[in-house]
Amino acid sequence: MGTYKRADHWTQKAKSQGFAARSVFKLDEIHEKFPLFGRGIGTAVDLGCFPGSWSRWLILKGVRVVGVDLHAPELEGGTWIVQSALEVTAEQLLTAAGGPVDLLVSDMAPNTTGNRFTDHCRQIELATRALDLARAVLKPQGAFVAKVFDGEDAPGFAKTVQESFTEFKRLKPEATRDRSVEFFVAGRGLR
Ligand SMILES: C[S@@+](CC[C@H](N)C(=O)[O-])C[C@H]1O[C@@H](n2cnc3c(N)ncnc32)[C@H](O)[C@@H]1O
Repeated sequence: MGTYKRADHWTQKAKSQGFAARSVFKLDEIHEKFPLFGRGIGTAVDLGCFPGSWSRWLILKGVRVVGVDLHAPELEGGTWIVQSALEVTAEQLLTAAGGPVDLLVSDMAPNTTGNRFTDHCRQIELATRALDLARAVLKPQGAFVAKVFDGEDAPGFAKTVQESFTEFKRLKPEATRDRSVEFFVAGRGLR
């Protein structure tokens, strides 16, 4: 099956299950390979939550979600902060979540320019911001997931995540497009 047919497969599968985007299968696979929470999870922050498939996946698992994006998802059951994650404060997140959270996920990506280096730098800025916010709002045993566009600064960022958590994994889920430069880093147990 070619790249585009496979892309259609994931998109159609997402729609048929009521999810706004194919990216839901990335989070599902990450959780399968590196469990982000057990039964006791209460709250999560979802950075770059629009159009809402990761948030919906979490809400369906009984997680209370605070989502941040430049656009508000058309989805009930979460608290949406329509603001840049570069500007939102840890205090805002803690207030919205009612205290420290069990999980912070970031699928944030900038509007791509076509210039691979520029896109990489902008995306690493978002991923770095996600890690800073995670350090400020996660419970000690909390978990973290962030999307990364591969490039010059990606290994350094991945190493920082690895050093920030007691357990770490780098993942490239199947639903990621074949030629995509993206991968994910995941950590558990904040150091
Ligand atoms: C790949 S989409 C996320 C898809 C989402 N995880 C889902 O499953 O529905 C990337 C998102 O990052 C958001 N984004 C980009 N820059 C951002 C920023 N500075 N602050 C917050 N969100 C941002 C975009 O608006 C976009 O909705």
